[in-house]
Amino acid sequence: MIKRLIALAFAAAATLCSSVALAAGGGPLLDSQVNINDKSSLQRGAALFMSYCAGCHSLGYQRYSRTAKDLGLSEEQVMSYLNFTGAKFGEHMKASMDPADGAVWFGKAPPDLSLVARAKPGGPNWTYTFLKSFYVDETRPAGWNNTVLAGASMPNVLWGLQGIQRPTYGEHGEIAGFELAPAGSQTPEEFDRTIRDITAFLTYVGEPAALKREAYGVWVILFLAVFTFLAWLLKTEYWRDVH
Ligand code: HEC
Repeated sequence: MIKRLIALAFAAAATLCSSVALAAGGGPLLDSQVNINDKSSLQRGAALFMSYCAGCHSLGYQRYSRTAKDLGLSEEQVMSYLNFTGAKFGEHMKASMDPADGAVWFGKAPPDLSLVARAKPGGPNWTYTFLKSFYVDETRPAGWNNTVLAGASMPNVLWGLQGIQRPTYGEHGEIAGFELAPAGSQTPEEFDRTIRDITAFLTYVGEPAALKREAYGVWVILFLAVFTFLAWLLKTEYWRDVH
């Protein structure tokens, strides 16, 4: 009976997990393998984001100064390599483009990405898979479509690195896979690292306190271990008289 209950609980958990992963609609999400404790990944991600994405997308809750502090960069480094809008060091990382213009140019204003890595089903995996899932589609205004966000109005800004994905179709006319033609300036492995770094940066931006919280966690566990040991010593001390 208990075994059966346990099996049932596992089955329920598995269904729940797979439905979360599939919720995006375009098939299973890929594992982004982001590591927000990898400072160089975050630094590369920040640089990539500011070059390729910040023209259109704001990080409205994130300040340049906070980014500098958390990523171990100096004010000079941030102001010369990450800030292209002339914003002040203490200001938020706003897109160079006015959202109203974006709405006119792309049919939809590019959304603020401060929280995107937390807000989507599947968390960071959604953003990672989205960045890898652009393909040419002549029927779309910008010439691009995306299997994770069907009809996306964002053009594939990373195509020069990734190459151009062309869909291959299965028996029922569904997209079965992609072929790269022409290839991009990066190998598929290098491109995976590129989008992993961007996703890691957006994951950090979604919850900057996570960096600190995880560091505190170690101390909390250590404290609990020491405290448990002391409590145990005290207990043996008291019980010695009782016996
Ligand atoms: C040329 C302007 C432009 C650039 C550059 C751009 N995007 Fe976008 N992006 C858009 C638009 C427009 C949308 C809205 C798409 C839609 O919902 O149809 C979008 C949507 C998104 C979304 C989905 C957000 C949501 O809430 O649905 C993500 C994630 C995203 N972009 C990430 C990026 C990243 C990362 C980069 C840099 C590698 C980037 N974008 C570069 C225009 C842009």
